[in-house]
Amino acid sequence: SDPALVERARAAKAALGDQVFVLGHHYQRDEVIQFADVTGDSFKLAQQAAARPEAPYIVFCGVHFMAESADILTAPHQQVVLPDLAAGCSMADMATFDQVEECWEVLEDAGIADDVVPVTYMNSSADIKAFVGRHGGTVCTSSNAKRALDWAYGEGGAGGKKVLFLPDQHLGRNTAVLEMGFALDDCVVYNPHRPNGGLSQEELRDAKMILWRGHCSVHGRFSKESVDEVRARVPGVNVLVHPECRHEVVLNADLIGSTEYIIKTIEAAPPGSAWAVGTELNLVRRLANEHPDKNVMFLDKAVCFCSTMNRIDLPHLVRSLETLAAGEVVNRIEVDEETTRHARTALDRMLALP
Ligand code: 13P
Ligand code: SF4
Repeated sequence: SDPALVERARAAKAALGDQVFVLGHHYQRDEVIQFADVTGDSFKLAQQAAARPEAPYIVFCGVHFMAESADILTAPHQQVVLPDLAAGCSMADMATFDQVEECWEVLEDAGIADDVVPVTYMNSSADIKAFVGRHGGTVCTSSNAKRALDWAYGEGGAGGKKVLFLPDQHLGRNTAVLEMGFALDDCVVYNPHRPNGGLSQEELRDAKMILWRGHCSVHGRFSKESVDEVRARVPGVNVLVHPECRHEVVLNADLIGSTEYIIKTIEAAPPGSAWAVGTELNLVRRLANEHPDKNVMFLDKAVCFCSTMNRIDLPHLVRSLETLAAGEVVNRIEVDEETTRHARTALDRMLALP
């Protein structure tokens, strides 16, 4: 990265001192992640967001829904900045508030809404987290999806007879089938672009898991063929994937987990071991560079960044830090009070999961 920009970022951050707290998601570029005070997966960053209550500014190097969650979880005097407002998440955009309200009406018409506990993946907008909070549900991330679903479904937690899982069908299905012992047939997919989600009332009444038809386009590119190909090419390779991958990929992988889990797994791996990693490219490249004694490779032949994570680059970070150092807050992410209250209920339920 441009040494002049590195120096400007360093100088602005030094000038801000304890005034600023920089959080960085593992998918961020190296040029950005070097300035993060804390790096993490979505869960760790949600936990850490409130770790520095005295810092008036939080610069969130990640995507929009993460910055919103940080705003919800931090004190009212703290201001959260997203260095590029165009850093969204295509998966989060696949569930809008109006669509989710309409879905709930479909569940009411089928006479099952009282049986349903909604669970939303962190990768969703604040108003959807608020919807879930108002309807007795929780948020989950890739590192606690099983615990969140165990809480939502059946006795002992929220007591749901069914779960509505938003918006990532793959994380929902992978967790339900591979970790909770559900059958594939227990899951149905609700398509927000079809009347009644494309489901009959009978299908809705029979289902245990109603999965929203959303997915991550980055992880959706891995296929069973990617796994077969790397196993044929690299004997003894370990296939390590994120649970946003399609069911066929996760079924054929050796290990599955969040970005934080992926990092810890590679760190603990013996020298000489081979790893094909099915997640975003910035992270896989960083792992390969940091562990030259291990053979760490991208799971697929075609490489793929998350284009919205990548929007946060060094020039955007420099601009955020320099404007803050000049006392100006640009690109603030601010969730309104009412939404914050209900979304916070859902997020707090997640943070309190056993
Ligand atoms: P993690 O919570 O595992 O970091 O995942 C976040 C994400 O957006 C994955 O695509
Ligand atoms: Fe969203 Fe996928 Fe990018 Fe994660 S990797 S932020 S789920 S588009």
